[in-house]
Amino acid sequence: MARIELVLGDITEQHVDVVVNAANSSLLGGGGVDGAIHRKGGPDILAECRKLRAGHYGRGLRTGQAVATTAGRLPAKWVVHTVGPVWSPTEDHSGLLADCYRNSLRAAADLGARTIAFPAISTGVYRWPIASAARVALTTVAEVSSDLPTIATVHFVLFDRAAYDAFRAATAP
Ligand code: APR
Repeated sequence: MARIELVLGDITEQHVDVVVNAANSSLLGGGGVDGAIHRKGGPDILAECRKLRAGHYGRGLRTGQAVATTAGRLPAKWVVHTVGPVWSPTEDHSGLLADCYRNSLRAAADLGARTIAFPAISTGVYRWPIASAARVALTTVAEVSSDLPTIATVHFVLFDRAAYDAFRAATAP
């Protein structure tokens, strides 16, 4: 099983093989992590996203799916874009949030990546409560990474202390 590390910081500054982007279905950029990755990573990332939209992903990326592009100028080899579910107080979308982590890990393993950095998917614009998102993230990564022996380390990169503490609490035995 992969080693799991919590990092308080900016995901665009992580020196890993794969950086995971909390994208939207258009794959054409946005705010939050998406905006930071495109801003720091440069135009090559968007150019590859546009090619994906012109090809296999003509209708965009579905929630829970994951697809890789170059990482451009980021200190990483690839960006894996995934679309998180929007929080709903009435419907349980936990399975779709788990799919984001599961499919991103699988995409990273297919690329031969050994290290991967995740943001707290869906916990910003998509309003998913951080404690619940942390539980889904950590449970899914522990489960899936045991079947992906080439993935050595998974970093959860939290942008603020509250998110970091929530993930820390979720790892507590
Ligand atoms: N590094 C690490 N984490 C970050 C960074 C960063 N540079 N910037 C923001 N975050 C954190 C946020 O604080 C939040 O905890 O990432 C988490 C996810 O927030 P969003 O980026 O808003 O992603 P999400 O909630 O999944 O919403 C996706 O927002 O930016 C748009 O195009 C994106 O439409 C999509 C939607």
